[in-house]
Amino acid sequence: MKISVGSDHAAYALKKHVVEYLKSKGIEVLDEGTFSEESVDYPLFAEKVSKDVLEGKADYGILMCGTGLGMSIAANKFQGIYAALCLYPTMAKYARMHNNANILVMAGRLMGPTLAEETIDTFLSTDFAGGRHQRRINEIKEFENN
Ligand code: RB5
Repeated sequence: MKISVGSDHAAYALKKHVVEYLKSKGIEVLDEGTFSEESVDYPLFAEKVSKDVLEGKADYGILMCGTGLGMSIAANKFQGIYAALCLYPTMAKYARMHNNANILVMAGRLMGPTLAEETIDTFLSTDFAGGRHQRRINEIKEFENN
């Protein structure tokens, strides 16, 4: 499995932890930055990670900013990206099971490293349930033609 990871300055510390955590689990990581706490604009990183997922360079993406809100809004502008802000493992479970999310978004200013690890583990180990949930996703896809 390969995961593309990106954050802004507000989640730099959490991203550093996440990258090390994924590597310790034997997961290949495409680290798209940022690489310091110097202030940067989160949409640039949302774009890099979204494109990695859409181009098949990564199976999933993980994006982090202060609240996770800006990254979610930006990533979901890319057709084919389903970015889900998950503050708890339960949200990650349903983001995969019901929403078939392909990018996990977390909040660097609200989540500690252990909570982030558990949220990642749940996201990566939960399969999409399909069925009526696929029908609902198809309904969302229709909005892309508007
Ligand atoms: C940066 O200060 C902050 O706005 C950003 O990390 C994020 O929370 C935006 O949604």
